Amino acid sequence: MLKLNLEHLTTKIDWTSYSEKVSKVHEMIEKRNGPGNDFLGWLKYPNTYDKVELEKIIECAKYVRENYDVLVVCGIGGSYLGARAGIEALNGLHSLKKPEIIFLGQTFSSDYIYETLEYIKDKKFAINVISKSGTTTETAISFRLLKELLEKKVGKEAARKAIFATTDKEKGALRDLSTKEGYQTFVLPGDIGGRYSVFTAVGLFPMAVAGIDVKALMSGAKEAMDEFNNSKLLENKAYTYAVVRDYFYRHNKPVEMFVTYEPRLVQLGEWCKQLFGESEGKEHKGLLPDSATFSTDLHSLGQFIQDGSPILFETIIYVNKPNHDVIIPEDKDNLDGLNYLKDKPLSFVNEKAFMGTLEAHEVTGKVPNMIIELDKLDAKALGYLFYFFMKTCAMSAYLLDVNPFNQPGVEVYKKNMFHLLGKKGY
Ligand code: PA5
Repeated sequence: MLKLNLEHLTTKIDWTSYSEKVSKVHEMIEKRNGPGNDFLGWLKYPNTYDKVELEKIIECAKYVRENYDVLVVCGIGGSYLGARAGIEALNGLHSLKKPEIIFLGQTFSSDYIYETLEYIKDKKFAINVISKSGTTTETAISFRLLKELLEKKVGKEAARKAIFATTDKEKGALRDLSTKEGYQTFVLPGDIGGRYSVFTAVGLFPMAVAGIDVKALMSGAKEAMDEFNNSKLLENKAYTYAVVRDYFYRHNKPVEMFVTYEPRLVQLGEWCKQLFGESEGKEHKGLLPDSATFSTDLHSLGQFIQDGSPILFETIIYVNKPNHDVIIPEDKDNLDGLNYLKDKPLSFVNEKAFMGTLEAHEVTGKVPNMIIELDKLDAKALGYLFYFFMKTCAMSAYLLDVNPFNQPGVEVYKKNMFHLLGKKGY
């Protein structure tokens, strides 16, 4: 399903020096005895997930599709990025499918929140509030505003039917509120952290509402789970990729630039940034994950990548076959000089841009490139890809000797903010 092309790394990696360490880490992951092991619920999740809940997710999604024009997904970080990445990757950026999916709860910006509330106020909307802890301030403020708007608009009883909450099974403010109000709820299992939660209701419910075949997504995840469950470094592509990342981190390339040639994959880049950044960036270690979309960003960051500080390597996520192609028409005046491309599909142009850029960056710029190649992007391939990155990330973080599943650093800004806001106890 996925090809890992290592022909453009500009260097030779001594794989044998890594094989023993990779085997040890693999065993640690499998035996669940490494740091953060109580958050390994995602590892076998494509097998162990609650099949009854998946049916409930699909049924509720159908109800939302049939009864509402908009679904507002309210969450942040791991409770937001996977759903958005999946929906944009598979439905594109100007989807005409109903209901429209929009996102809130990921910002304090009054302009963004005001505009969103104005946009939905006269539309028939449902809400999916997602928070494992139930106390995340961005999400909680937005949900309070959404709930108030909806209850005023349709009344408490109709609002209750339009609110779906995804949260911890037993504890937390959102669980308590959902029980009190009688909302339909979905579970985010206690042993799965936010950024590893895309295969739970956190990702699946919004994706199902968006019309995505979530069973196919799960079957792709399962295929990846089975395939990447072996300790042999060069046979296991997730581990090969993890070693490439570790190698460059230790050889003066502290930045990994995720590159795609598809605007609909911009949010996948954001998801990757969170997954790797929050999993590895600790104890003053870790690659800085960045992202770019080509050829768009060849007209901005491209200059830096080609000629700037030699601090990065590129990981290109390349899809061979687009879902749709566009043919370049002939123009009788040819004033733009484009007739040499007449009748050519745009995928041909995009591919040549990719090949030309690869050579420019690798040969002239000496920038290492790694290519993650997919034949096409459908729900199954996306499930496979999400799992591939998650497994890579666990190995990669353990190679760095950090806990892949905690995020102690994110608390510092919250403490300061709560103090400044006058919250009790801060
Ligand atoms: O990956 C993570 O754990 C975080 O990004 C969380 O998902 C994010 O902070 C949101 O947390 P919660 O789901 O508790 O609202």
